[in-house]
Amino acid sequence: MKITIIGSTGQLGTDLMKVLFGKHEIIGLTHKDLEVTDYNSCLILKREPPDIIINTAAFHKPDQCEDEPLKAFFVNAVGPRNIAAVSKEIEATVVFISTDYVFDGSKKEPYAEDDVPNPINTYGVSKLAGEFFTKQNPKHYIMRLSSLFGLAGASGKGGNFVETMITKAKKNEPLNVVNDMWMTPTYTKDAAKVIQEIIEKKLPFGIYHASNQGRCTWFQFAEEIFRLAGLNPTLNPIRTDQQQTKAHRPAFSVLKSTRLSKHGIQTREWKEALADYMFEKGHVGRTDLTKEMP
Ligand SMILES: NC(=O)c1ccc[n+]([C@@H]2O[C@H](COP(=O)([O-])OP(=O)(O)OC[C@H]3O[C@@H](n4cnc5c(N)ncnc54)[C@H](OP(=O)(O)O)[C@@H]3O)[C@@H](O)[C@H]2O)c1
Repeated sequence: MKITIIGSTGQLGTDLMKVLFGKHEIIGLTHKDLEVTDYNSCLILKREPPDIIINTAAFHKPDQCEDEPLKAFFVNAVGPRNIAAVSKEIEATVVFISTDYVFDGSKKEPYAEDDVPNPINTYGVSKLAGEFFTKQNPKHYIMRLSSLFGLAGASGKGGNFVETMITKAKKNEPLNVVNDMWMTPTYTKDAAKVIQEIIEKKLPFGIYHASNQGRCTWFQFAEEIFRLAGLNPTLNPIRTDQQQTKAHRPAFSVLKSTRLSKHGIQTREWKEALADYMFEKGHVGRTDLTKEMP
């Protein structure tokens, strides 16, 4: 298949390029090559019409989205609208990457694909609008992911929660991390492999939840990072209401992949994925990973 990846140097985009390279004809488009908010720029997709377009582009910092709602809607909603329109015109399948933040977090048990979204911040509302626009192309996959970490780091600039924690710990900065917000950390390499399986097996179009398995709070995520890295910083659990952030965040956004299970696809536990990441990023040697997992 000919597959075009938008946002090819981003955290997920980089892993999609790696996972799909050599198996398909891949075209990677960076932000410089294509601006999703500009319809005319999106027409570049027609030059070498692909079978599949994967759109990873996003403005995904929730607090900044509160400050810049117009930008959030342009990138996360108008962008997917443009990509849906062009992909439909060239009869390509579109894959849109969405988020656990389309849910409000009040359910307290994992959200399935058919649970009703009710976003509580601008980022979530704009991504949900992006989902609706994506559906304008009937040949669509909407992949909801959560709390991503990947070797390239967000925006290809090396940053993600794991790296932030390790950097701060090495500077001996005391760390206050929320212990009442539940989610599933997800390795972009694993998410990329699920996307690969879905498109290769030509699964039915629609929404798929594709995070890693299990759940934890951000504090527990930090604890596991430090356990693997052999670091022992001052790590304090705090409540969400002790932290000043502009965007409200769902207190519980664990996703359940009912549609993937039906097709025999299962991702691994987040702790296993994190251990793999820590090795691949060079934070630990392979033998360190034999330390017994709690
Ligand atoms: N990060 C998370 O924790 C998380 C959680 C759930 C879902 N998601 C979703 O997963 C997807 C991938 O996230 P990620 O962490 O891989 O993000 P990322 O590293 O920031 O990658 C996004 C890529 O899109 C490009 N891009 C941004 N704005 C664009 C625009 N207007 N037009 C064209 N390209 C643009 C960026 O390029 P520049 O950096 O050069 O601008 C970057 O290469 C996003 O859709 C996000 O909403 C993320």
